[in-house]
Amino acid sequence: MIKAAHATAPGKIILFGEHSVVYGKPALVTAIDKRAHIEVERHPNTPRKIRISTMDYRSSHEIPFSTAPTFITDQPTHIQPLLRIIQSIYVQEEIEESITVKVASDIPRSAGLGSSASVCVALTAALADLFDLGYSLEQISACAFKGEQLVHGTPSGIDNTVSTFGGCIRYHKGEIEPIEGSLIQLIIGNTGIARETKTWVGKVRSRYDTFPNVIEPVINAMGDLAKEAERVLATRDLVRLGELIDINHGMLSSIGVSIAELDHLVNQARSAGAYGAKLTGAGGGGCMFALVDDENHDKVFRALHESGAGPIRAQFETEGVLIH
Ligand code: MEV
Repeated sequence: MIKAAHATAPGKIILFGEHSVVYGKPALVTAIDKRAHIEVERHPNTPRKIRISTMDYRSSHEIPFSTAPTFITDQPTHIQPLLRIIQSIYVQEEIEESITVKVASDIPRSAGLGSSASVCVALTAALADLFDLGYSLEQISACAFKGEQLVHGTPSGIDNTVSTFGGCIRYHKGEIEPIEGSLIQLIIGNTGIARETKTWVGKVRSRYDTFPNVIEPVINAMGDLAKEAERVLATRDLVRLGELIDINHGMLSSIGVSIAELDHLVNQARSAGAYGAKLTGAGGGGCMFALVDDENHDKVFRALHESGAGPIRAQFETEGVLIH
């Protein structure tokens, strides 16, 4: 019997198709080399208590286990998805022990880079390892999704899927297909404005409900754009790919999820010579990315740096969730 386990899971960048993916359209997404880290320890022969400490929020909690909904709802929002996963695994696997959970992450929070999903995925994998549950990757992703539903309302499942499986993938209605994207270079800029995915998915829904005849064709076009982008990715034509990235940003603006700060960073990156730039994730703040190559990389990086966007170079990550 092992006493402790450590798992990590990557964040992500949606290249094409955020929001339209919620409406069942295909999206292209890649895992990135920033990870959430979860350490868990078991304490046999103790009454069921859950101790959780989070580095990011500098918080620590000790909660007696219960199957009641209040086990989750009485606690601060940032640990609720973790408790949802723990409750589900404890009930299903009839676990009778106490555990300690330590959460750390190098993925900026509430920024569109999938930080919550990666924590949910890493926690599920760590618990599965700790209690020797033999979960498949599909089971890990499905269990993590329960945590995601608590944070995001009606998520598409794209974040937990890419965090579990890693790589650059097409995600369409829960099905994944690896795609060729590994050679493209992106720079991520962060507006530093935290936002909630749930809010911005809700805003799109209400615009859709108000103007269905207008918004539905845009959503459909975003799905077509993702398909076109997959073809262009395979040709490595950066000019065409950049054009599609710019079009996708325009569509996201039209459904109401860009804000002035995102538009500013996108314009700065384009003026500095990026092939294309768009927001990534739910919008309303958070991050954008710019498509670059070796030639324009430094100029774009500098432009985003001077705009206060704390740019980071995104390395694509082939590995999904890992047990260490
Ligand atoms: C996910 O990071 C971004 C959205 O597409 C929501 C979702 O897919 O659940 C806006």
